[in-house]
Amino acid sequence: MKISFRKRGVLIFLIGVLLTGCAGSPSMLAPHGAEAARVAWLTWFMFAIAAIVLIVISVLLWKAYQRSQREVGEEDLYGNDRSTLRNVVVGGGAVPIVVLLVVMGLGIGIERANNPLNASSNHQIDIEVIGHQWWWEIHYSNENFDTANEIHIPVGQPVTIHVTSADVIHSFWVPELHGKIDLIPGQTNTITLEADQAGVYRGQCAEFCGAQHAHMIFLVVAEPADEFAAWVDTQSKAGVEPEVGSLEQEGQQAFLGSACVYCHTIEGTNASGKVGPDLTHLASRYTIGAGVLPNTPGNLAGWIINSQSIKPGNRMPPMDLSAVQVQALLAYLATLK
Ligand code: CUA
Repeated sequence: MKISFRKRGVLIFLIGVLLTGCAGSPSMLAPHGAEAARVAWLTWFMFAIAAIVLIVISVLLWKAYQRSQREVGEEDLYGNDRSTLRNVVVGGGAVPIVVLLVVMGLGIGIERANNPLNASSNHQIDIEVIGHQWWWEIHYSNENFDTANEIHIPVGQPVTIHVTSADVIHSFWVPELHGKIDLIPGQTNTITLEADQAGVYRGQCAEFCGAQHAHMIFLVVAEPADEFAAWVDTQSKAGVEPEVGSLEQEGQQAFLGSACVYCHTIEGTNASGKVGPDLTHLASRYTIGAGVLPNTPGNLAGWIINSQSIKPGNRMPPMDLSAVQVQALLAYLATLK
């Protein structure tokens, strides 16, 4: 079969377009931590082995094809029995066994290096992550505060993440920092995260968990130690009470007087619901709706009024609030830094 020059060009173009999907953030091939670097190294190693196997098999196929085109006798075509047997034993048995054993050994070694069994004992920071349909509850165990959909870590310091689920199986994955770990109801799994560079790394649920699985996003914010300490300090405190008679206080009253309190917690107020994300420091977060929208007043207003039109199936019902109430509510929520 001959492929025309033009068809070849189209083919190369299409492959190029597909390969651009491998670039950009978040890519597990662009690691930003020791754990992810090991995973990426193993990926390239296996890719190299697969490439070598492909080349060898292609050459052998080509040779076989050429031989079949020649006028030859039966014996010549099939070789003698002894060399055939040798090829089967070596090519079909010994080589694959060696390759698989090497890859398995490397895989086990990397797994052990990435998740030391007693990680928490030498790690300073323990973070609990609880998966919900479809958001991430985050609890800082040592400092004892809650947040959601956003994990802050100090650069260059390993932290231990303990994961579990409140409903179905989810999977915690930050491609640039580590491999995946499943969140299983009734069981706690641990994983180590470490970022070698400050930045915001996107995380994603990697196990199908229902209609909004693709919109179960979180961010890992890696920052210098002092910025991280300042963040922890703010997060562990309750919000500032709004001034009496202000728009913000009107907003707080609208919040506390509506159904919001049954599902959300705001430390320092009567709102202590556990169904949805803790909102004590909502205004400090980059996104709302578990990474669905940037945290801006406009998006927040849309989310409060009818989040079902943004993320259908999520557990937050549409809110029947007047425009004046929404304005006051937005002013109040903006104070929750
Ligand atoms: Cu949670 Cu997919």
